[in-house]
Amino acid sequence: MNYTIHKLTELPDTLLPRLAEIHMGDRGLLSKLGYPFVLRYFEAAHKDPRVIGVYVQENDSSDVIGYGIASPEPESLTSQLTTDKGWFIKQIIKLLFTRPLVFVQLTISSITIKGQMNQTDSIECVYFSVDPNFRGQKIGRTIQKALMDEARKAGYKRMFASIETWNKASLSATLSNGFTIVKTFREGQYLRHRMESKL
Ligand SMILES: CC(C)(COP(=O)(O)OP(=O)(O)OC[C@H]1O[C@@H](n2cnc3c(N)ncnc32)[C@H](O)[C@@H]1OP(=O)(O)O)[C@@H](O)C(=O)NCCC(=O)NCCS
Repeated sequence: MNYTIHKLTELPDTLLPRLAEIHMGDRGLLSKLGYPFVLRYFEAAHKDPRVIGVYVQENDSSDVIGYGIASPEPESLTSQLTTDKGWFIKQIIKLLFTRPLVFVQLTISSITIKGQMNQTDSIECVYFSVDPNFRGQKIGRTIQKALMDEARKAGYKRMFASIETWNKASLSATLSNGFTIVKTFREGQYLRHRMESKL
């Protein structure tokens, strides 16, 4: 299968829902918040000039089949979810009634990630994801490698990632790309490895 990796800045706005759809296959907190949050998150990432992002397009069909994003300040991306106060309050009230445990986790995660990225030469690999129909073909590993290359070109010296300990594919990709585990920590219901690589 042939595919091309593009910079996220080249993605037309009309394809943002496709990225959000792929992200819904991730078992992390953002997808648990629901599709409206995921779409808003990708809209914010697409507009943020500090985000380094890539997406993968299958050559024959032109379908988008994966993406990766990195940010020097992941907190600023999540905080953009609150920009439209009316929308945010409505979504949070809905969440409180329908999925209270996800609300509790959101609070814990917001506190945990505060100050996690405090070095100016570092960037976080925030998410990378591949459409389930195209997994296991080294695309995920290639996406993360592309993020590392772009981050290096942008002058960053180190990349960090937090990966849930059960996530064998993500861990294998990240270890293959030269990361090492620097610590293992609990973030509410999640047990994560904090991983780091020089760029
Ligand atoms: C994580 C993810 C992006 C990996 O993408 P992928 O294209 O399927 O993975 P790759 O084919 O590049 O394989 C990467 C490594 O994981 C291994 N792997 C792939 N699928 C695996 C599986 N189901 N179980 C165990 N290991 C697996 C591969 O053998 C490879 O190992 P190697 O680098 O030592 O050779 C993909 O599984 C995914 O989208 N998951 C949902 C979203 C997610 O969890 N993202 C990461 C957290 S931010």
